[in-house]
Amino acid sequence: MVEEKTITLNVQRYQPEKGRFTTSTYRVPVKKGMTLLDALLYVRDNLDGTLTIRHSCRMGICGSCSVIANGRHILACYTQILDLGSDTITVTPMQNLPLIRDLVPDLKPFFDKYKPIQPYLIKSDEEMKKQTEFIQKPDELKRYWNTTLCIKCGLCYSACPVVKSNPEFPGPAAVTTLYRFSVDSRDSGGEARLQHTGPWLCYYCGDCSISCPKGVEPAESIMSMRRHLITNYDWTGVSRMLYNSKKASAIFTLGLAFITLLLVWLLHGPIITDRVELTAFAPIEIVHNGGIVYGVLLASLLLSNLARMYWFTVKKRGSGRSIPLSTYFTALKHVVSEFLAQAGYSRCASKRAWINHLILMWGYTSLFILFAVLLPYTLVNTILPLNNPLRLAGYFGFATLTYATLYAIIGRLRKKEEFRKHSHHTDWMFLILLLLTSITGMLIHMFIALNWPLPTYIIFSIHLAVVVPLLAEVPFGKWTHLAYRPFAHYFTRLKKEIETQ
Ligand code: SF4
Ligand code: SF4
Ligand code: FES
Repeated sequence: MVEEKTITLNVQRYQPEKGRFTTSTYRVPVKKGMTLLDALLYVRDNLDGTLTIRHSCRMGICGSCSVIANGRHILACYTQILDLGSDTITVTPMQNLPLIRDLVPDLKPFFDKYKPIQPYLIKSDEEMKKQTEFIQKPDELKRYWNTTLCIKCGLCYSACPVVKSNPEFPGPAAVTTLYRFSVDSRDSGGEARLQHTGPWLCYYCGDCSISCPKGVEPAESIMSMRRHLITNYDWTGVSRMLYNSKKASAIFTLGLAFITLLLVWLLHGPIITDRVELTAFAPIEIVHNGGIVYGVLLASLLLSNLARMYWFTVKKRGSGRSIPLSTYFTALKHVVSEFLAQAGYSRCASKRAWINHLILMWGYTSLFILFAVLLPYTLVNTILPLNNPLRLAGYFGFATLTYATLYAIIGRLRKKEEFRKHSHHTDWMFLILLLLTSITGMLIHMFIALNWPLPTYIIFSIHLAVVVPLLAEVPFGKWTHLAYRPFAHYFTRLKKEIETQ
C-alpha cells in the first residue's frame, strides 16, 4: 500500500479469563481511503493475531463493528481513519454492555430490551389470514421512514447516559422502534403500545442522535413518541388538536387570550386614575375565585389524564395481580425526587441543559405558587418592602424564568446542540408564552412602583391574557412532561412490583 503516514493505535483489551483490562499500542501505516476497521484488521493480520474484533459486511450495513474511537461512537468500517483527525487513536469497546473479549461486547442485553416492545406489526389472527397486502400510503410511510434505517448497531445504546443509570430504560433504539410501530397505519397494537413508560425515562440530551451512523435521530423519535403518548392519555382530544395542527394551536391560544380580555372588560372594577388601585380594577374575589375554578378544572383534567396513564401502564398490565398498598406510598418518593431534581438528566453530557431545565421548572413553579396560590397576598396596590419574602421570591421567579426561557429560545434559534435542532410548534408556543408572562409580570411590578395607574391596569390585563393560555398547557401541552415523567418513574416501580410477584 502507498503509505501516507504512520499512526498510533491504542486499543483497550479485555481478557475474560483474568477479568482484566489492558491497553495494547500498535504503529499502523495508513493511507487515504483506509477505514478504522482496515487499520484494526491490519493489526490482527500483521502485528497481533490475538486482537479480537467483530465485523461482517464492511460497508455500514450489518452494524457489527461498533466501537468508540477518541471518544466518538462510530462504525469502524464506516469511518475513514484520516477523518478522525489525529495521529493517535484510542479505540475502546462500546459501553453499557458486558464484554466478551477486547472490542467485542455481548449485544444480548441490547436485543433483550426489544422483546417487550413487540417489534412487529400487531394484527388479529383474522387479519393475518387474509390473502391481501397491508397497503400504506406514501404519506403514512413518511411518518416513520427514517426509523427504518436503523441497523441495530447499538451505538446509541452505548452513548445513552440513562441506559447506564436506569436499568428500566429500554434504550434509544428500542423506544425508536416502539414509535415506529405505534404510528404505523397498518398496526393494530392500539393500547398495547401505550403500556410503556420507557419514553418518559429519556431526557432528550441528544447523545444517541449524535452517535447514530444512519441518521435515525432516535432522540427525536422518542420525543415524537412522548407526543403520541400525551395525545392518547388525554381523553378530551385537545392535546391531539394542539400537537397536530399549528392553526388549531394558535386559535386555541388566541381564543383563550381573547376570552380572558373579554372577561376583564366585562368584570373589571372601577378605574381609578390618580393612583394605582389594582385591587379595585381587578377585585381580588373575582380574580382569586376565578383562578381557583380554573385551577381546579385544569388539575382535574391533568389528574384524569394521569389516571389514564396509570391504567395503560400499570393496571392493564397487572392482569389481576395486586400491588401492596405500602408500595404505592413508598414508591411516591420517586415522584418527588424526579420532580425536584431530575437526577437522571444530570448524567447527560450537557450539565448546563440540566441546570437550565431545573431553573425553568423552579422559576415556573415558584411563580405559580406566588401568583395562583398566594394571590391574595401578591395582588397589591403598592410594592411590598424589599425584605418581604414574597417580593424576594417574586424576583427569584421572574429572574430565573426570564434567563431560562431566553436561553432556551436562543438555543433553539441557533440549533447548535442536538437537542435544540428540532422544535415543534408547541415548543415555541410554550416558550413565547413563558417569556411574555415574565415580561408582563415585571412590567406590572415596575408600573406599580412608578405609580402609573393606566399602564398598570392595561399590562395586568395583557398579563392575564398570557397566563390563562399558558396554564391551559398544564393538562394538554408541553408542560405535561413535568408531570408525566415523575409519574412514569413511579409507575415503573409499581410495574416492577407486579413483575416480581
Ligand atoms: S436523548 Fe439522551 S437520554 Fe434520551 S435516549 Fe438519547 S441519549 Fe438517552
Ligand atoms: S438508532 Fe442508530 S445508533 Fe441506534 S442502533 Fe439504530 S442505527 Fe445504531
Ligand atoms: S462491518 Fe458491518 S457495519 Fe461495519
